[in-house]
Amino acid sequence: MLPEDEIKRRLEKMISRRRLIHSLGVQTTAIKFARLYGVDRQKASIAGLVHDCARDLPRETLLEMVKRFHITVDELELGEPVLLHAPVGAELARVEFGIDDEEILNAIRVHTTGDVGMSMLDKIIYLADYVEPGRSYAGAGALKRLAIEDFDRALIAATDQTIMYVIRRGGLIHPRTVAARNSFLNSLAIRPCNQVIGGDTSDGEGPLTRCQSGRKSRER
Ligand SMILES: [Fe+2]
Ligand SMILES: [Fe+2]
Repeated sequence: MLPEDEIKRRLEKMISRRRLIHSLGVQTTAIKFARLYGVDRQKASIAGLVHDCARDLPRETLLEMVKRFHITVDELELGEPVLLHAPVGAELARVEFGIDDEEILNAIRVHTTGDVGMSMLDKIIYLADYVEPGRSYAGAGALKRLAIEDFDRALIAATDQTIMYVIRRGGLIHPRTVAARNSFLNSLAIRPCNQVIGGDTSDGEGPLTRCQSGRKSRER
């Protein structure tokens, strides 16, 4: 992998000034989340910095790169080529910056739609993209606070926001985004809870608890 200074120099030529400022914001936020949630800071830093390296490419170029890199795409992505900046960005990160760490590349690959089975690094980049300091949409402040207080709920809130935005525009929702939201909700439902709401342990499975999602579950 190229040194970070060289990556930045190359990135400056690939994306607009505005996009670079956004990318530096995602990098800073990703490092903060990595520290908070025990993820490799260096990986979070590089993934955050380069996640949008293909974002300013014209749609024709994105479609050409899909062919060049043999990226598998679906109908929805072909109809909405902006979505392709994530998988194309992962391949560009490999060839332009010499990044060969698959964890970093996957975080870039899934940062737009989300996916099932996301790693913590994937989630950090996905959420940092919504809450970096330059984000000023309605509700950004609340989402920024939630990302610190309850990362899992912030993931769901961010995904809900995207889905509702696409619905308002009459657009198509990518199935991976729906699948990602479902998996975030499932993780929330089964995560360990501390609030005991019933003391019957006669079945040996431990007391009933209530998660923040409001569902009953067993302590685990
Ligand atoms: Fe992006
Ligand atoms: Fe971004």
